[in-house]
Amino acid sequence: MDGIRQLGYAGLDVSDIDAWEIFATEVLGMQATPRGTGGDAPLHLRMDEYERRVSLHPARRDDVRYLGLEVAGTAQLAAVRARLESAGRPATSATEKEAAERFAAGLVRTEDPDGLPIEVYFGPRLRVEEPFHSPRPISGFRTGDLGLGHVVLCVGDIERSVAFYRDVLGFRISDLISFEPAPGLEVSVTFLHCNPRHHSLALVQAPLPTRLNHLMVELHSLDDVGSTYDLCRDRGIPIAMDLGRHTNDRMVSFYAQSPSGFQVEYGWGGRLIDDANWRVQTHRAASIWGHRLGGEA
Ligand SMILES: [Fe+2]
Repeated sequence: MDGIRQLGYAGLDVSDIDAWEIFATEVLGMQATPRGTGGDAPLHLRMDEYERRVSLHPARRDDVRYLGLEVAGTAQLAAVRARLESAGRPATSATEKEAAERFAAGLVRTEDPDGLPIEVYFGPRLRVEEPFHSPRPISGFRTGDLGLGHVVLCVGDIERSVAFYRDVLGFRISDLISFEPAPGLEVSVTFLHCNPRHHSLALVQAPLPTRLNHLMVELHSLDDVGSTYDLCRDRGIPIAMDLGRHTNDRMVSFYAQSPSGFQVEYGWGGRLIDDANWRVQTHRAASIWGHRLGGEA
């Protein structure tokens, strides 16, 4: 199935955009672009040659607002649209103006089974002539064909959501982790990929306060992760999960609490998947070491 190629962009509803701008630029090292006029104008953040990878929208509630999933071109967009229609999912072609607002050449809107707006698009606008410049001395984000990173979503019905992302959009299952983060609490997470990044999406059936559990961005260097960890400690930014290494994607990372409450995983060293020889795996632990809650001892 020639489906989604990457998690291209994410739109977030944020209740404190000023705090977010400081967090995103001075801590995470993303590059803010000039914001449009008007109170509801989004703040677009760059991580690479894309016009933007993350858009922050002023809102009363904090959560993910939409996800942009990239396909290769017009034929692939038409194919996804046809699969959405035959699965009985909404599929609305955006106008040229609406697509341009998302910096895309063409775009089809749908929603996932929990009502999260999904924007399937092709032709992202790039700014190669104005290279990404981080406000922090970091080596930069590992993006490109791997996409912006990954998101972990809380869903109402895991089977229904897996069926949508796998069978309609073309994601492949990477692996599953079933673990007990606290005694008596069993959590099962399904990880899905759409390119060699181990997962661009993970789904967990859990009644958490926001749909978005966390957004992961990956850095080129372990030192970027370490220096940002120190910076979070220095600035008193809550560490939701301490440094550690995951069992499945082998990412070395920590989780900072964003001004929205949901977390940003800041990582390095994620493994890549080759679909030609990958087989689905299961794990009983989320981490090899570390990732202790709240940075506890
Ligand atoms: Fe993650």
